[in-house]
Amino acid sequence: MKLSKRLKQIESMVISDYTHIWDCCCDHGLLGSALLSRLAAPCIHFVDIVPELMKELEDKLQRFYPNSPSNWQTHCLDVAALPIGEHEGKHLVMIAGVGGDLIIQFVNAIHQSHFATNIDFLLCPVHHQFTLRRQLIELDFSLKNEVLVEENQRFYEILLVSSPTKTDDKQSKISPVGELIWQANTAEQSKTTANYLKKTLNHFQRMQRGNKADIQHIIDAYRSVVLFP
Ligand SMILES: C[S@@+](CC[C@H](N)C(=O)[O-])C[C@H]1O[C@@H](n2cnc3c(N)ncnc32)[C@H](O)[C@@H]1O
Repeated sequence: MKLSKRLKQIESMVISDYTHIWDCCCDHGLLGSALLSRLAAPCIHFVDIVPELMKELEDKLQRFYPNSPSNWQTHCLDVAALPIGEHEGKHLVMIAGVGGDLIIQFVNAIHQSHFATNIDFLLCPVHHQFTLRRQLIELDFSLKNEVLVEENQRFYEILLVSSPTKTDDKQSKISPVGELIWQANTAEQSKTTANYLKKTLNHFQRMQRGNKADIQHIIDAYRSVVLFP
């Protein structure tokens, strides 16, 4: 099945040598299937909490990938309980299409359970991007890549981040408001970054007017964003 622009962008950001790729909250498994088709890793895992979805997906994978050189497995479970420790090698955990607040819970749980394992996370939250970034900074994660995508008048930040390592390699810091996402290479992308910044600022200014909480520091942080070019 054809991938949406958002899923295509996420798929294209999977480039390292991973042993296990986890398509979490996989729904119909489109993202994981695309990675399985291009043999992106020796094992692709599909994870969702809905049993009927996983049964249907298991049947489909057996039909379309019966003898795939890459292994695949389906797991009907809560992403917070990912059995990473049962599998040796380098892991990429992808979580897309759910709220940033839920992604924070998943990342916290996985990181706590596998504290000593260096894991890459490819994250595409729906809302709560600022809070998610703050949490990743709190956990001392580092940035590998970040991209902004516009699809059907919605904006998606996609973050490829890494849990802390013990090596002395220089790690890139995660910005609470993003850095690379504001750099455009095309006129279309320039329009996207400008529209996203405007929309984000409007959102937080509306919240501030509602007097729910003091979020002036968030507004100030987005006001200091410099669009390039
Ligand atoms: C909108 S779909 C996202 C599909 C795909 N990842 C995407 O980005 O288009 C959200 C999926 O998350 C699953 N989900 C929600 N909470 C979950 C949890 N705690 N553990 C595993 N899957 C969960 C739902 O069952 C649903 O299939």
